[in-house]
Amino acid sequence: MVIDSLGRRFQNLRVSLTAACNYACTYCVPDGKKLQAQSEELDGGQMAYAVQLLADAAGITRLRVTGGEPLISRKFDEFLRSVSKLGLEDIAVTTNGQFLAAKLPVMKETGLKRINVSLDTLDASKFRSIARSGDLETVLDGIEQACEMGLRVKINMVPMRSANIDQILPMLAFCLERGIELRFIELMNMGHLKHNQMYEQEFVGMKSLLELIGQDYDVKQIEAPHDSTSLRFEIPQRGRFGIIANESEPFCRTCTRLRLSSNGCLYGCLSSSRNHSIRHLLDRPYHLAINDLQDILRNAMASKQRLAFTGETTVMKFIGG
Ligand code: 5AD
Repeated sequence: MVIDSLGRRFQNLRVSLTAACNYACTYCVPDGKKLQAQSEELDGGQMAYAVQLLADAAGITRLRVTGGEPLISRKFDEFLRSVSKLGLEDIAVTTNGQFLAAKLPVMKETGLKRINVSLDTLDASKFRSIARSGDLETVLDGIEQACEMGLRVKINMVPMRSANIDQILPMLAFCLERGIELRFIELMNMGHLKHNQMYEQEFVGMKSLLELIGQDYDVKQIEAPHDSTSLRFEIPQRGRFGIIANESEPFCRTCTRLRLSSNGCLYGCLSSSRNHSIRHLLDRPYHLAINDLQDILRNAMASKQRLAFTGETTVMKFIGG
């Protein structure tokens, strides 16, 4: 197990099952361009073996399946079935919700307990202009069915000054009514945002968010788990919400995350494009592969930022949020 001088170790693995996505969100990709070829991707068996190796070599206990959009990958069912047998403490899926209803049966079969749905607005035309694809009603229907099935649902919203700031209160009301935890993610300076003005123009920080919410609700901050990226807030008698304040309150010092991209590379930090391929290990037997993984994990750990997210040209769609 690798532990760095800040006492950080990898506990939390995020696997980007595919770099492909059926959306082209304005903050993720420029002009709706498709950025990655699918030909380099690992197959479902290799990915599940990678998770097993990483769980054992690094001490991973929690897995998040992400993308791109994981539910459009043909690997999804097989992968979820395989990793759900590994005895991990927690498995979650992040999805844009477009194919959620169709994937609920396999989620139920594998005992999945929770999902995060990315949704930035409840307004159909704003939805179209942010996601540049997809259909709002389909997502809302998927969320409703997931809740009915007993899945714990969180919704991720990236608030932006011109695109959806007026959606913050409607989104919060929607989530509070349904017992869904809404998590606001401060816009991160990633991908094409590094090269244009959009980040500066659109960023909405925690302070503005809390001021806005405070106009309608009593809000108090509550305790969050030690390595949680989100700050937690309670609205008495109504429910909770979270803010992932990458910029306002960076959480690098307690970060336990490790990322595996769909082409078999480990990333120790969302804010570093340094990566370490483990593809060559995935056709080796367990005892050889596990041994070689330790040095690679040490290198991945060394990529972690010490204090704060500094931004990176890596595209979220590739590395997975
Ligand atoms: N800043 C903040 N959040 C982002 N996401 C994608 N790109 C960015 C960005 N630049 C979010 C998605 C999704 C989660 C995985 O990451 O909206 O909810």
